[in-house]
Amino acid sequence: MDKRVAVVSGGIGGLGTEICRALARSGRQVIAADLASRPERLEAFQAEVAEFNGQIVFEAVDVSSADSCVELHQRVSERFGGVDVLVNAAGITRDASFRKMEQKHWTDVMRVNLDGVYNLTRPMVDGMCERGFGRIVNISSVNGQTGQFGQTNYSAAKAGMHGFTMALAREVARKGVTVNSISPGYCRTQLVMAVPEKVREQIVAQIPVGRLGEPSEIARTVDFLSADDAGFITGANIPVNGGYFMSF
Ligand code: CAA
Repeated sequence: MDKRVAVVSGGIGGLGTEICRALARSGRQVIAADLASRPERLEAFQAEVAEFNGQIVFEAVDVSSADSCVELHQRVSERFGGVDVLVNAAGITRDASFRKMEQKHWTDVMRVNLDGVYNLTRPMVDGMCERGFGRIVNISSVNGQTGQFGQTNYSAAKAGMHGFTMALAREVARKGVTVNSISPGYCRTQLVMAVPEKVREQIVAQIPVGRLGEPSEIARTVDFLSADDAGFITGANIPVNGGYFMSF
């Protein structure tokens, strides 16, 4: 069998980079899809994945643009054949308490974190259904489950991803395509390190395991859900949060 082809949006970001590495280690051809507007980060990323010798490649995309996502799909299909695994990991924060939140804080987050999931999944899901195999993994957040002070926009988008996950999972289940979400807790990424130190310390104090998560611990879960033999798990949300939020 040819290598499974995996597209990871937000692929050069804090979680995305580790997700790309984990999927490549499991033998997938990986396309790290991300904005091309951060040349320094892109250069660092290329160095971080150099050991994979072309098994991880970068492709530019703006997930908030439907056209950009369609073009990405065309380029990836021409170069590697169809997409088997899609990881929607692109996400931004624009934290502000609601009474200070401007329209732009709201729409920017919605366009990337939620519209982006539609934009990128839409062109890729048909091929998965036609070939009878697909794995879609949406990176949501614990804050989509609990809400977070200063994140009405982000929490709404991340909770919305769960609804999307469950609905699409039902629609494509008979086609061999699974759709799941992961809700990471606070991990050691730039996004989290940008939270004011005092606020972050208070949050870490509430994590039962007593530390931030590592991006590799999220990547481990993506690798698990996207495996060929994970076909009976669909419409699920897997929390990976050090016990920060527990429910059954
Ligand atoms: N809980 C309760 N009260 C809080 C609070 C909190 N977490 N944070 C602030 N307040 C209080 C303030 O003390 C202030 O009280 P008074 O009016 O009595 O003085 C009041 O709320 C007003 O707050 P402001 O609107 O003035 O707050 P601010 O502008 O100073 O800061 C904020 C608000 C930017 C949201 C800041 O609290 C913050 O950055 N919080 C962190 C948010 C966060 O956790 N983001 C997660 C980012 S990482 C991520 O998203 C990844 C992932 O998925 C896990």
